[in-house]
Amino acid sequence: MGIIKKFRITTFKKEVHKIKLKKISLSFDKRQILDDISINIREGEICGLLGPNGVGKSSLFNIILGSLKPNYGNIFINGTDVTNLPIYKRAVDFGLSVIPQTSGVFGNLTCLENLKAISEIVIKNKNERSFKVEKMISKFELDAVKNTKARHLSGGQRKKCAIAMSLMSDPKIILMDEPFQGLDIMSTRDLQETIVNLQTEDIKRSCIISDHAARDLLAISDRAIILANKKVVAEGTPSELLNDQNARNVYFGDSFKIN
Ligand SMILES: Nc1ncnc2c1ncn2[C@@H]1O[C@H](COP(=O)(O)OP(=O)(O)O)[C@@H](O)[C@H]1O
Ligand SMILES: [Mg+2]
Repeated sequence: MGIIKKFRITTFKKEVHKIKLKKISLSFDKRQILDDISINIREGEICGLLGPNGVGKSSLFNIILGSLKPNYGNIFINGTDVTNLPIYKRAVDFGLSVIPQTSGVFGNLTCLENLKAISEIVIKNKNERSFKVEKMISKFELDAVKNTKARHLSGGQRKKCAIAMSLMSDPKIILMDEPFQGLDIMSTRDLQETIVNLQTEDIKRSCIISDHAARDLLAISDRAIILANKKVVAEGTPSELLNDQNARNVYFGDSFKIN
């Protein structure tokens, strides 16, 4: 899999930190999962969050979202300390949206019904609501399956439906948890393009995407962060990471290549 992005944001004219995690530690019962994690997510970047299964990627997303409270540390969004803010405040005040690892759609509703349901929550104006639903259906090429129940959609279509739902509120920060899981090669490619377009459409939008499939994720990331053994072991552009001996030792292995 080659590199999909035609350009990468390697230098930012003015580096704005959208999300700042400061000294985050997390334990479940007495088992420590995350130890002293400090990372910054920049405005407008696609940032990959890589790490083996069970390292704490989803937990970190839940900490950013507000559904999980760390034992120690602070979360800042746009410079505001949101550590004690509930999920809905973070979502509404800072445009935070999450596409969960499993599904993200209501299986018993059709694709159209899913989109309508969300639009009724996040868009007040009725005309604007139906306009946006139609726009999303056509943008994500869901026309042929709009009346299909979400549980009968293919993995790629279901992912697109979930992304379309999250875009209803015009989010400024999108967290995607393992979006490539279970997708075939063509659907992966298609989803990669969709994600890159999310950034092209709104250059201030930040996307954080977790996955353990390094190749698929690095192909679209401006920067990535590698978690291993409770810690951040490396961060940087894909090429910096591939040349990082520590990252190779603990995560990629010596034979890993991107092209
Ligand atoms: N609610 C929970 N209670 C206890 N242990 C949990 C809970 N959620 C996650 N874990 C554990 O925390 C670790 C990190 O999980 P997770 O964040 O889902 O990892 P990843 O997303 O990187 O695969 C795993 O060992 C998992 O079993
Ligand atoms: Mg996970």
